[in-house]
Amino acid sequence: MALLKVAKLGDPILRENTQLVNLKNLNSPDGKLQLLIDNMIDTMRKEDGVGLAAPQVFESLRLVVIECSFNDRYSEAPNIPLTVLVNPSIKHYGEETAMGWEGCLSLKDLRGLVPRSTKITVDYFDREGNPISVNAEGFPAVVLQHEIDHLHGKVFLDRMSDLSQLSYLEEFEKYIAKKENS
Ligand code: NI
Repeated sequence: MALLKVAKLGDPILRENTQLVNLKNLNSPDGKLQLLIDNMIDTMRKEDGVGLAAPQVFESLRLVVIECSFNDRYSEAPNIPLTVLVNPSIKHYGEETAMGWEGCLSLKDLRGLVPRSTKITVDYFDREGNPISVNAEGFPAVVLQHEIDHLHGKVFLDRMSDLSQLSYLEEFEKYIAKKENS
């Protein structure tokens, strides 16, 4: 396994629409796609991310990994078990939205306040190619919307309704997180 380089905002790969993964390639003898998935998981963990999308590691494929156990970057966040999503698509958005602070490994030192649906339904395939449909709500729903956006060339900045609510991490912790926790 290997750590992969993470694309930073401004790299054109982050603005591309990705290709569907050919499910046959999940079981191909060369093991390339399975290795990419393992390397994405390693990279997400090493970088303290709660999710990583393939374009963020320079692969224009519809592939996402998410996980949240204890995380230094999001210490308040609830647990999300490790999940590999191949060709995910959001089938349903609940009507309710909520604002939440997001960060991104491709915009590493920034935090922004983003409106997201609180409940979604996502269809995807697991890494063995089994079809799965999941209802997600709260934090996992936000992470999934953020990561699936990456598959369509979008970053959280594009979803912000008020760019005055954008902050560097250090200032976020100093002025905003403190206030919200007090
Ligand atoms: Ni991101």
